[in-house]
Amino acid sequence: MDILERDWYEIIKRRHSRRNYINKQIDSKVLEKLNKFIKKVNSFNSGVRIKIVNESCDGVFKGIIGSYGKIKGAKSYACIIGNTNENYIDEKIGYYGEALILKATSLDLGTCWVSGTFKKEAVNEFIKLEPSEKIYAITPIGYVKEDYSLTEKLMNKMISSHKRKDLNKICIEGFNSTWPKWIKDGIKCSQLAPSAINRQPWLFSVDGSVVTVQTNNIKVNKYSKRLDCGISMLHFEIGALHNKVKGKWKHLDSSKVAKFIPNER
Ligand SMILES: Cc1cc2nc3c(=O)[nH]c(=O)nc-3n(C[C@H](O)[C@H](O)[C@H](O)COP(=O)(O)O)c2cc1C
Repeated sequence: MDILERDWYEIIKRRHSRRNYINKQIDSKVLEKLNKFIKKVNSFNSGVRIKIVNESCDGVFKGIIGSYGKIKGAKSYACIIGNTNENYIDEKIGYYGEALILKATSLDLGTCWVSGTFKKEAVNEFIKLEPSEKIYAITPIGYVKEDYSLTEKLMNKMISSHKRKDLNKICIEGFNSTWPKWIKDGIKCSQLAPSAINRQPWLFSVDGSVVTVQTNNIKVNKYSKRLDCGISMLHFEIGALHNKVKGKWKHLDSSKVAKFIPNER
């Protein structure tokens, strides 16, 4: 069930949401690699499945002109679909969806998580959903110019996309320099995770070698904070793995989301 890839420790540093794409189909060999990865993710029976649609994304994303969600040009997009009856589905969507995003980034493709501003009717034309399923998020997938377009720059500025909360702010009792390196690196990797409107709603606490992630209690819009936390959980594991520490997440209820228990070493 291993999903993590070693180079993702570097990949998370160069991943950023991209909203303007160039007019070019995904290379067939690259698409093959991406689909192979998706097949693996879909085989986990986690309640999450991913499907690539090789159609222009232009009719799919709503966006407000010149504002949040203005995405254009991509020749493909991926739908992150979840079984609404599955426990902890939001976290799982975040976790496996981010795996897709990082895999695409490692193949030099641009991406952007979109969970609210897409036209469900336009997507339903290409995706057959089971009655219990829902599309939780979509990402455009395609080639981007290295330099950001003017609208992308404006967008990033508007929501301070590249800013991350201080490590002391995302750790309930502050970031402790005496923690084991794998925990510190895990939290540093989580700090880089993307989140809806860049709100970074995760909070970490450390008890011995067990690390718990929970949501903050700041009330915001409809977007699921547990989905964001699922993304940060994958990032945490990437930092731990960089230090050769593997483990498992145990899902939790209420504002607690999950705790990471390292394997016996
Ligand atoms: C769950 C989720 C939903 C998002 N929804 C949107 C969206 O609807 N429109 C958009 O333009 N960006 C969306 N984003 C992208 C975030 O704004 C972006 O990840 C954040 O500002 C951090 O910037 P970065 O991804 O460049 O690091 C979403 C991100 C996440 C994780």
